[in-house]
Amino acid sequence: MSDDHTNQSKTIEPGRFTLTDNKTGKSCELSVIHGTVGPSALDIRKLYSETGMFAYDPGFMSTASCDSQITFIDGEKGILLYRGYPIEELASKSDFMEVCYLLLHGDLPTPEEKAEFEHTITHHTMLHDQLIDFLRGFMRSAHPMAIMVGVVGALSAFYHDSTDISDPRQRMVASHRMIAKMPTIGAYAYKYALGQPFVYPNNELSYSENLLRMMFSVPAEEYQVNPVLAKAMDRILILHADHEQNASTSTVRLAGSSGANPFACVSSGITSLWGPFHGGANEAVIKMLEAIGDKKHIQEFIDRAKNPQDPFRLMGFGHRVYKNYDPRAKILRETCHEVIHELGINNDPLLDIALELEQIALKDDYFIEKKLYPNVDFYSGIILRTIGFPTNMFTVIFALGRTVGWLAHWKEMIGGDDHRIARPRQLYTGDRQRQYIAADSRSRHSISWGGFWGKIRE
Ligand code: CMC
Repeated sequence: MSDDHTNQSKTIEPGRFTLTDNKTGKSCELSVIHGTVGPSALDIRKLYSETGMFAYDPGFMSTASCDSQITFIDGEKGILLYRGYPIEELASKSDFMEVCYLLLHGDLPTPEEKAEFEHTITHHTMLHDQLIDFLRGFMRSAHPMAIMVGVVGALSAFYHDSTDISDPRQRMVASHRMIAKMPTIGAYAYKYALGQPFVYPNNELSYSENLLRMMFSVPAEEYQVNPVLAKAMDRILILHADHEQNASTSTVRLAGSSGANPFACVSSGITSLWGPFHGGANEAVIKMLEAIGDKKHIQEFIDRAKNPQDPFRLMGFGHRVYKNYDPRAKILRETCHEVIHELGINNDPLLDIALELEQIALKDDYFIEKKLYPNVDFYSGIILRTIGFPTNMFTVIFALGRTVGWLAHWKEMIGGDDHRIARPRQLYTGDRQRQYIAADSRSRHSISWGGFWGKIRE
């Protein structure tokens, strides 16, 4: 099996669009690039050299930053495919290890390939003992995502033999190491905050079972993994494994484009994921439900979310790409009910608020018109809380699932023909060249006038 999967292609249709600058008369013929499915893209690579202009697209609303064979999303129809396979089928028929193999290699594994892959991941789960000393240097009160950023970045100081990005084998070894060690690092960050002993991984258990055991067991007691909860964890990991060029994946690609080592790149992805508009939303959902506090306050919060003067948003609702029900949320909604049933929870006020909020928002004209449906974070937050994860661990779980996606994209980029440093340009709106004023003659007035003179001189 090759390092990177390359059996699909793109086609280029030359010169379909002509762009003319009315002021200078300069024009440029632009080709259209077609992928296999989904919107085509206008090839603007020669725009600057031929017209002297940049394209302007803050927030990447209309920009394809790369081509990729890993994940396809149709946000209007609510479709998500990993390597061509619908997420619904993967979530119901595969497990997380199989999905990791699929994302990394491009194909589902044969039974032998799967056994070998599981063996490799299982045998890379332990951390270098000195790395544990490094982890112990954090404050006990540190947010576990801060620990993840630091410890994952520090892996590059411990595993030098897998940081040569020009070697496909080292790229794969680094990928295996990160997928395997991420649950251990996450669980240790949690145990460290509690002041409990670290629980070592157990090679008899599956990836998700191991995660639950390292999180929730203590050496003084026997711990039986609940299979319903292990299945729910596996599903959460599958559904978070990749989501094409989202903020954290783009961060990993951007960091990796300079040739940085994979541990540093994934660490940068973790920082980007931490934000409340991205992976931090599952934590924000629970904080919002706690702030609502009682079902009688739900309407008040819905009204706030609809008020254009109020910055408040319903966390766990809406998505940049999905303008239909997030297919991942549909699957997790079902899992959420399975977990609640398994744990026999029938009196949790926060859960009641969540389920009622979901129903009210789904019927509200504002949310219907703006196509704001519950997203994956709405349900993952509720499931994780029900299983017993503290809120500050939610984004850590997202990061564990997304690690394989980050690595698949990083490998695709490094292994591709067209790999170059990513260097966006800008539309400059600052001062033109200003007159420098010596420190002893500077006053607020003279500095501002320097800017003014700079402006009128041009
Ligand atoms: N509550 C209330 N109004 C909203 C919400 C919301 N959750 N989301 C969007 N809107 C409104 C927004 O105010 C805007 O209204 P208007 O047209 O009047 O200006 C309109 O819907 C479009 O919003 P937008 O901000 O232009 O959309 P976006 O694509 O830039 O933002 C989003 C997408 C996910 C950042 C946003 O929906 C949001 O902030 N949601 C809450 C945070 C959240 O749940 N994030 C998790 C995303 S899923 C996990 C992941 O893949 O990372």
